[in-house]
Amino acid sequence: MPQIPEKIHELTVGQVAARSGAAVSALHFYESKGLITSRRTSGNQRRYCRDTLRRVAFIRAAQRVGIPLATIREALAELPEERTPTQEDWARLSETWRSELDERISQLSRLRDHLTDCIGCGCLSLDTCVLSNPDDVFGDRLTGSRLMGERRSRP
Ligand code: FES
Repeated sequence: MPQIPEKIHELTVGQVAARSGAAVSALHFYESKGLITSRRTSGNQRRYCRDTLRRVAFIRAAQRVGIPLATIREALAELPEERTPTQEDWARLSETWRSELDERISQLSRLRDHLTDCIGCGCLSLDTCVLSNPDDVFGDRLTGSRLMGERRSRP
């Protein structure tokens, strides 16, 4: 990634893309979602302050570990005056997100284990396939369609 001299305080979208590794389209998307901001020149070209590089690094690091953009936006919005996240901010937020990630990893591990039962099966049974019907609370109490069970119980 090309270095940008310290004396340059405003960057074009191409410079931000080249330095951050994010696609220009991704930068436009981040901007449309309020994650980064730019000013427009008289020729209607975007100019980003140098801090944008750190914001983009923060966004991409969070995305890499599966944090949704909405959550990232909330985290950035909570920073005082929406400043660029510091090293301490990242340490604090990544700690907060750790338990969320642990839970997601645990869910995926359970799904992977169930997938092993499904490989080569193909039944997708509502009674026996955990992946087909993972939250089958009615299956414990009723047989047949859940709606049939509800209809039967109506007066
Ligand atoms: S597809 Fe048969 S058990 Fe999941």
